[in-house]
Amino acid sequence: MTDANQDLSYPKKNIKVLLLEGIHQSAVENFKDHHFVNIETHDVAWSEEELLENLEDVHLIGIRSKTQITEKVIKNAPKLKGIGCFCIGTNQVDLKAATMDGVTVFNSPYSNTRSVAELVIAESIMLMRRIPLRDKKAHEGTWLKDAKDSYEVRGKKLGIIGYGHIGSQVSVLAENMGFDVYYYDIEPKLPMGNATRVESMDELLQISDIVTLHVPATPSTELLIDAEALNQMKEGSILLNLSRGSVVDIPALRDALKSGQIAGAGVDVYPQEPESKGESFKTELQNIPNVILTPHIGGSTIEAQYNIGKDVSTKLINLIDNGTTVGSHTVPPLNLPVQKDAHRILHVHENKPGVLSEINNLLSEMDINILGQYLKTNEYIGYVVLDIDKESVERILDEMNKVKHTIRTRILY
Ligand code: NAI
Repeated sequence: MTDANQDLSYPKKNIKVLLLEGIHQSAVENFKDHHFVNIETHDVAWSEEELLENLEDVHLIGIRSKTQITEKVIKNAPKLKGIGCFCIGTNQVDLKAATMDGVTVFNSPYSNTRSVAELVIAESIMLMRRIPLRDKKAHEGTWLKDAKDSYEVRGKKLGIIGYGHIGSQVSVLAENMGFDVYYYDIEPKLPMGNATRVESMDELLQISDIVTLHVPATPSTELLIDAEALNQMKEGSILLNLSRGSVVDIPALRDALKSGQIAGAGVDVYPQEPESKGESFKTELQNIPNVILTPHIGGSTIEAQYNIGKDVSTKLINLIDNGTTVGSHTVPPLNLPVQKDAHRILHVHENKPGVLSEINNLLSEMDINILGQYLKTNEYIGYVVLDIDKESVERILDEMNKVKHTIRTRILY
């Protein structure tokens, strides 16, 4: 694969990429396709001690959720430019420390959207057909052949709470299955296909045969579905929670299932979840008929792993090749155009008054012609990118590093 940027960046052979925790091969292939050659991979997470000993010459590190990148680790990684979290969250990284060191942190929040949406459709059908009970009985040797309480999903009302990436994808798939789709979101979201927006959550709960939750964990969604909400739902309806464990009051759901108010539930996320695979797990929803319990695997598919590998590695490659930081949780996000007939200076500084004017004065004193200038700041730091005339690069790196409040400067040739 050719790479238009391969001559622009710091020589690729000098850039060390360290990938931990068995990150999908799609990431390795992507780096190789973009001419990175120094790629080290490990299947396990590293301890802080191992990180402190081995990050001296690492420019990019890829982790999943188990490796903790602390302030101490960041401070001991002098060449580190980017951290790729090949997963959904970024809690395992000290984001404040990374910000103050000008280290860009990426993750992949939406690579598993489709995987979650497919499981929602599958569970809707399984629960409407009362499959968990019939499956259990068949395994036990009982032939539970009847049509009792079994329904098609065609023509049933599916109510989606939270019409973001996953909710809207569920909407499209559900409509194709013949559902009549309704949704409620606190933001004004446009309907996909023929879905109908409703004005209140109460209305959605009252009309839906199946309610599926796709909201984030925020103070406003904590116990969003409590006893009162469950009582508002149609008698004999179904609840799906593949969002976050804090959203549903589990004892209230157990009671509603036992009383028959709710006829079935699919639950993938819990208020307390075991840390790792194979650990024992308890919930009050165990051993209730017509309940599908899954261990937070809504987004866990081979395709999602592939997509995450490709997505996060692409973000890291773009960071190295042209300074783009879109999707960053630390350095302010800038989407930069392709660098053409120019050197590109990437300057990260503390967000203090006077830095930009000092940079501009410096460039004018050096008689440097600026072809393009891009700036974004956040609460703590600023990221300024300058495309300058090809002729004028000498001395600039040293001079830029002398600018007051500079955190780091990089040049793409
Ligand atoms: P998103 O951020 O794209 O969408 C969330 C939507 O919820 C937004 O449209 C927002 O306006 C809306 N919202 C927020 N508060 C609300 C409220 N009180 N009432 C109604 N709507 C509200 O998020 P995305 O990617 O669709 O993810 C949804 C949830 O699914 C998240 O909690 C995420 O953590 C979870 N998730 C679970 C997975 C699993 O393995 N089970 C995998 C991936 C995501």
